[in-house]
Amino acid sequence: MSKPKAILMFGAPGAGKGTIGSVLCSFGGHYHLSSGDIFRGLPKESDSGKLFFEYASNGKLVPDDVTIDIWWRYTKGLMDTNRFDPATQYLFLDGLPRTKEQAQLIEKYVDVVQIIVLYIKDEEVLFERLGKRAKIEGRADDANRDIIINRLKEYHAKTSPILEYYSDDIISTINAEQTPFEVLRDVLASTADILKQSVK
Ligand code: AP5
Ligand code: MG
Repeated sequence: MSKPKAILMFGAPGAGKGTIGSVLCSFGGHYHLSSGDIFRGLPKESDSGKLFFEYASNGKLVPDDVTIDIWWRYTKGLMDTNRFDPATQYLFLDGLPRTKEQAQLIEKYVDVVQIIVLYIKDEEVLFERLGKRAKIEGRADDANRDIIINRLKEYHAKTSPILEYYSDDIISTINAEQTPFEVLRDVLASTADILKQSVK
């Protein structure tokens, strides 16, 4: 079986990866997979659930080997139960890879065909969005400004530099400070050529 084809979604915390990825996949028939959602779904008392909480509640990235192991076991489970069909669906990976090591490790499992970068210039926008979400969803990593600052530091230090690892030809950078409708419109425009074709 050939490797699943992946579209990677990059963007600082609160840039809109989950918002855009889930809408795009819900009507486009592709599969949106957020590494953060996988982690938050782990049983809280399990070793991996505790490990995740320890890192995420400090705004830190979970170690690479654990991250890739959990992500790939989860993805394999989706394929084995026919919830994700790599023969017909793209895998929209939201939040992974987040380090150079992860970018190298995932090459064994998926073919990266496109990268969407949700770019936010004015980071106050992120604090505002996450502050609002904190009141609604109560995510531990949205709880205060210092944690969000740590998440942003991790993004700038470890995640955005890995874009250099990929060819410019497959990277689309979108202004994610616009309204959700405008961001979705621009993402659709930049992925239409790929998504209108079948995966093969
Ligand atoms: P993760 O869950 O991936 O969090 P994140 O990257 O910090 O991003 P968010 O989910 O907060 O933001 P988003 O870009 O999805 O924005 P959203 O659409 O929700 O990761 C959490 C933690 O897990 C990490 O810190 C780490 O510990 C661990 N982890 C995960 N992956 C890992 C990995 N690969 N390696 C190691 N550790 C990993 O939008 C945010 C809010 O803004 C929402 O309320 C939304 O309604 C609103 N909004 C969205 N778009 C707009 C818009 N255009 N205008 C106005 N409001 C908007
Ligand atoms: Mg998210």
